[in-house]
Amino acid sequence: MADKVTLEFQGKKYEFPVVEGTEKELAIDIKTLRSVTGLTTLDPGYKNTGSCESAITFLDGEKGILQYRGYSIEELAEKADFLEVAYLLIFGELPNKEQLEKFHTDIKNESHVDEEMKKILDGFPKSAHPMGVLSSLTNALIAFNPSSVNVSSEKEMYYAMVRILAKFPVLVAWTLRKKKGLPLDYGDDTLGYVENIHKMMFKRPNHQYEKNDIVINALDKLLILHADHEQNCSTSTVRIVGSSHAGLFASLSAGISALWGPLHGGANQAVLEMLEAIEADGGDTEKYMAKAKDKNDPFRLMGFGHRVYKNFDPRAKIIKKAADEVLNDLGIDDPILEIAKKLEKEALEDPYFVKRKLYPNVDFYSGIMYRAFGIPTEMFTVMFALGRLPGWIAQWREMRLRNEPIGRPRQIYVGETKRSFVPLEKR
Ligand code: CMC
Repeated sequence: MADKVTLEFQGKKYEFPVVEGTEKELAIDIKTLRSVTGLTTLDPGYKNTGSCESAITFLDGEKGILQYRGYSIEELAEKADFLEVAYLLIFGELPNKEQLEKFHTDIKNESHVDEEMKKILDGFPKSAHPMGVLSSLTNALIAFNPSSVNVSSEKEMYYAMVRILAKFPVLVAWTLRKKKGLPLDYGDDTLGYVENIHKMMFKRPNHQYEKNDIVINALDKLLILHADHEQNCSTSTVRIVGSSHAGLFASLSAGISALWGPLHGGANQAVLEMLEAIEADGGDTEKYMAKAKDKNDPFRLMGFGHRVYKNFDPRAKIIKKAADEVLNDLGIDDPILEIAKKLEKEALEDPYFVKRKLYPNVDFYSGIMYRAFGIPTEMFTVMFALGRLPGWIAQWREMRLRNEPIGRPRQIYVGETKRSFVPLEKR
């Protein structure tokens, strides 16, 4: 579709092209806006700003659709495993058997982490938040892999990505083990990617590793559901940091910090803490609903609302069902799940939430599952980061291969206009 938008300003008319995405999204291309009109745009929080063209993930927030490279999240969560999805996101196509095997073998061959890294981990107090530790360790990896990646070499790009896919789960497991006071463990190259993560996280020092298929399958699904979500806060961070040609690990480390916040990935920790607080307070969900609606109260119903979804978050639907099944299969009767279901029901019927199109998001039920697996609450966002890693990598790769310009928004300055310096003694 070739169309144009006409802008009239100070008696002059300007035309801007309209671009159309493959899923029929329309956008005004304003690349020349400032040079031809002298105007810029103002859009705090980038609510209406498309920062790039991307072929990785499509989501339609009104219809509740999420697709990775054209495949629906529902189908991927049911039929694929996390490593296949990682390959799909990064390279654009589902791998065949040989490609998948090679990918996994290459990852296994890179899965050692320099012993010196343990000294860095040791420097953190046990009380340190795992997201801060993970972000720091990811950045510290650069010191042990210092050569910069030549982005025009497919091989170098491939190995940079494989290297982090291999080492990141070790860092995640070490972060958890430090928190739990367990000795650090390495992986086992006879195990599947997610199974190995499970082993590295949970193997007790004087016990045989016990494989738990229910947990491993549920973890695999959770990681798939978190694997990418187009230009969210952390992904935009990864792309913008990478756009300065900072390396992949530095960009990822910044993405981890962005994910940490409770309005983004940190919401899974915040949800569970909220549900626990409601339970400890007698389970009065209506009281917390009232607090969430009270504009004088900073409390928000964590795990509700989304910048883009104005309908059910499709990931939340899948997670809710999986949480029910997993808790049942593991024989866990968690009162927190009942509180979550009650809150969800009340919110979906409440005019405040209905009017604002606030639905449960991916974080509303995920924490209940992590808790059932024995993962400490402070580690929940780390699990989100583990899932999001392939998405960040895919987005970084796309940004570098497209040779995107450095990300550098403008502003509308509203401070003091030019004035003369006042010497200290006259102030
Ligand atoms: N509880 C109560 N009111 C809410 C909530 C909530 N969770 N979320 C939004 N609102 C209200 C908000 O007060 C505002 O009301 P009004 O129009 O009267 O001022 C309206 O709904 C629109 O909210 P907003 O903050 O302008 O929307 P946003 O797009 O800037 O923020 C959000 C989206 C996710 C940050 C927000 O909904 C929120 O803070 N939710 C709770 C935190 C959360 O669950 N975050 C996880 C997001 S999903 C995981 C991820 O991908 O990161």
